[in-house]
Amino acid sequence: MPRTAKTVDIPAIGELDRHAGQLSVQLAQALRAAIHKGELKAGDLLPSTRVLSGALQLARGTVLAAFEQLTAEGFLEAQPGSGTRVAMALDRKTPPAAKNPQACDIPLTAQAQALAQFATQRAPLPPVPFTVSVPINDTAPDDVWRRLGNRIRARGPGAPSGYGDPLGALPLRKAICEYVRKSRSVLCTPEQVIITSGTQQGLYLATQIVLDAGDAAWVENPAYRGITAIFDNLLRDRQMARVPVDDQGIDVAAGREIAPQARAAFVTPSHQYPLCMPMSMSRRLELLAWAKEQKAWVVEDDYDSEMRYAGHPFPSLQGLDPARVIYLGTFSKILFPSLRLGYAIVPEPLRDAFCGARVLMDRHPPTADQHVLASFMAQGHLDRHIRRMRGVYAEKRRVLTDAVNAHISPHLAALLPSDQGMHRVLWLKAGLDDLRVAAGAAEAGVAVSALSPMYAPGSGKSGLILGLGGYDDEAIHRAAQKLNRVLVSIAAS
Ligand SMILES: Cc1ncc(COP(=O)(O)O)c(C=O)c1O
Repeated sequence: MPRTAKTVDIPAIGELDRHAGQLSVQLAQALRAAIHKGELKAGDLLPSTRVLSGALQLARGTVLAAFEQLTAEGFLEAQPGSGTRVAMALDRKTPPAAKNPQACDIPLTAQAQALAQFATQRAPLPPVPFTVSVPINDTAPDDVWRRLGNRIRARGPGAPSGYGDPLGALPLRKAICEYVRKSRSVLCTPEQVIITSGTQQGLYLATQIVLDAGDAAWVENPAYRGITAIFDNLLRDRQMARVPVDDQGIDVAAGREIAPQARAAFVTPSHQYPLCMPMSMSRRLELLAWAKEQKAWVVEDDYDSEMRYAGHPFPSLQGLDPARVIYLGTFSKILFPSLRLGYAIVPEPLRDAFCGARVLMDRHPPTADQHVLASFMAQGHLDRHIRRMRGVYAEKRRVLTDAVNAHISPHLAALLPSDQGMHRVLWLKAGLDDLRVAAGAAEAGVAVSALSPMYAPGSGKSGLILGLGGYDDEAIHRAAQKLNRVLVSIAAS
């Protein structure tokens, strides 16, 4: 039996695939395409269903069904006694045939252009040194994670179900409440916990909720691009006041001068991102005093406080003033970033607003993953994993520090002192442009992020972020050697 049939006098019908079935749908699609391309014009008379079914070797009912469908859609009109024509109403409405059907002449909004440009800066780094937080070998969660996942997805709470609570799965919210209370002195109930798909979403939701058009917010200078880019690309009707940091964290006195009436402050008190110092207790109290005076919210991004290698971490800012602080945490660093689970702990009056914004954005994160994580935490595996990771990352950090000291010329770069976290900052000397170095390193197979884009325009310093991932020692040393070669060649050019 022949696989295809030729049309008689409608060229666009071309070939119908008889093996694919749904011949009336295929025929309707072919006729629609012919009208779109201008091969069939308004008023053109179509062959009768009898002629067409004979020519295409189709059942007459198949052709009739296609005609009826297109008539219902307004492409065709049937006139008793005079056959079926392409609808006259399409005369001026049929767009001219495009040479390239993908070519688009609709201008992009300023916002679309800004977001597209940001996307080019945020392509994920490849899993090579010095990409941060890449769980390879000894930093990946062990078999327990896989076993729990299999069991919970197969039956029980992780099995397929309907929509879940937009705040997140209750067992996970309870487990998080318990975890942050013990480890970070955060004061909350499970009703204040909202599961997010990572801190990035928490930051985004917070900016939507605590700021109205025209409001200003303090943002540290330098800061994580994930917060500054929200203001740059999306919230251009809200003002981002960049407040410098010094060795005690955000300079509250400077903030009072720059934007005394700001409605919120976005800070990284445990471990300033990217410069690594914790916010001193006196600064914490100063910041909270300003927030109280101004009736402003403080958004605490606590992205990697688990990784402190010496002494005790400062308790959270939230614990000092739970009515004013929105606390954001993530499992990206301590477990793995592709999990896309984090949490926002919000003062009671903000809870419904976060819930509403969450519903409008994506309803809630995948339910099964939340239950896997809840069990992982409830059974004590997360605490064990964190204890193990502290040891592993302390060692990675030592290896990275040794590699930099051994292979990178002190005339070209120097490590910023720090004793916590999952990255180190390498200051570049002698006018070395960090963007150029990052691009050169990428070509050499080394992943580093440039520091200067994290500063407000005109205040940038040149440096690199070197992340601690789960790479072996040899790979880290090789990467440091390659990075040095890049630095030497750029310094000489
Ligand atoms: C300072 C800071 N905040 C937030 C995030 C976002 O983390 P998540 O993966 O949870 O969205 C990161 C990730 O690197 C970060 O460094």
